[in-house]
Amino acid sequence: MIKLTVNGAPATFDGDPSMPLLWFLRDVQGLTGTKFGCGVAQCGACTVHVNGEPRRSCVSPIGTLEGADVTTIEGAKGKETEAVRAAWVAIDVPQCGYCQSGQIMSAVGLLSMNPKPTDEDIDLAMTGNVCRCCTYHRIRAAIHDAAGRMEG
Ligand code: FES
Ligand code: FES
Repeated sequence: MIKLTVNGAPATFDGDPSMPLLWFLRDVQGLTGTKFGCGVAQCGACTVHVNGEPRRSCVSPIGTLEGADVTTIEGAKGKETEAVRAAWVAIDVPQCGYCQSGQIMSAVGLLSMNPKPTDEDIDLAMTGNVCRCCTYHRIRAAIHDAAGRMEG
């Protein structure tokens, strides 16, 4: 029996420990905000936070997460999250939206570690989050905007 925390609530899993965290979140927990893209850690659509840091849930077996603290887009909160949400709305970042929960989780992770990132910091932190609608310029602008909101 694997015990972990998902969005602040206790959760357990009794099945195959090789099941990716992404399946656990979507199919067992019903948290469908986290998306499946590539399944091989190449697109970032499935990004969640594990113990406060961005993690690709498609390649994270549930069996490795005993005691972990998992946060998905549904449970993200705190000053970085609020700033990112406001910036995403102000700059109208999403196009189709499919990649955006992963983008937001990576952006929140970046701002948690680096509240005033440069363009280079942003490009480095976000490089693994692919957007087929090419919203990259707006994502970068929104992260700068979010950093400004956190200062204010
Ligand atoms: S679905 Fe996990 S990185 Fe693409
Ligand atoms: S907004 Fe469409 S894939 Fe990023």
